Amino acid sequence: MVATVGPMRHSTSLVWRTAAPDDAEAVARLHADSWRRLYRGAYADAFLDGDVVADRLAVWSARLAAPAGSVTVLAEDGPDLAGFVHVVLDEGGRWGSLVDNLHVTASRHRGGIGAELMARAAQAVLAQAATPTMYLWVLAQNTAAQGFYRAVGGVPVERGLVAPPGGVPQRLHGAPAKLRFSWPDAAPLAARLDAPPC
Ligand SMILES: CC(C)(COP(=O)(O)OP(=O)(O)OC[C@H]1O[C@@H](n2cnc3c(N)ncnc32)[C@H](O)[C@@H]1OP(=O)(O)O)[C@@H](O)C(=O)NCCC(=O)NCCS
Repeated sequence: MVATVGPMRHSTSLVWRTAAPDDAEAVARLHADSWRRLYRGAYADAFLDGDVVADRLAVWSARLAAPAGSVTVLAEDGPDLAGFVHVVLDEGGRWGSLVDNLHVTASRHRGGIGAELMARAAQAVLAQAATPTMYLWVLAQNTAAQGFYRAVGGVPVERGLVAPPGGVPQRLHGAPAKLRFSWPDAAPLAARLDAPPC
């Protein structure tokens, strides 16, 4: 599948780099903000309005302290985090590497940052994973993200049920569904990027 969006077109002031342990708080804040905006209805209001920042901080502190087998790429504009992507290499058997999280700051949507983060995720998969295949899960209600994933070459292949964050059932609202998107070959997505992997 060939990605259908054009060349990279975000601000040239952006810096792309691999995340370090000190980045946990900024990543957690963006992740929590994104969930609060988009996951209402799937995640419980009490969770989103309550300890979601603490939950994400615990997750990101642990991940960035021990990043073996994963890659987290940040897009920064000066002191501001503009977006991030997290890939777990060779996580999914025949589905390949898992793009576990992709979030762009709300005020910067549709600026090309998400497409470049996906291209950098694809680069990391090609460079470090055993197979060029990658996949992700997206909430069924998140139709905007599904439009984005289609635009960068992803194909919806199956439906499943969302697991509760942190394994806590009370953090879910009902039984929300999710869709698996697959990229059988990350190469066309990675090829959209001229820069070397960071
Ligand atoms: C989904 C997300 C990562 C996309 O990043 P982005 O920087 O806004 O997207 P881009 O500007 O790179 O978009 C590239 C192309 O994808 C498509 N696209 C992007 N957003 C879209 C939307 N809301 N609806 C339909 N197509 C969309 C378009 O074809 C777009 O190209 P165009 O703007 O020239 O038309 C971003 O909107 C985001 O962080 N959303 C909130 C968090 C989220 O839903 N993450 C996914 C969790 S699984």
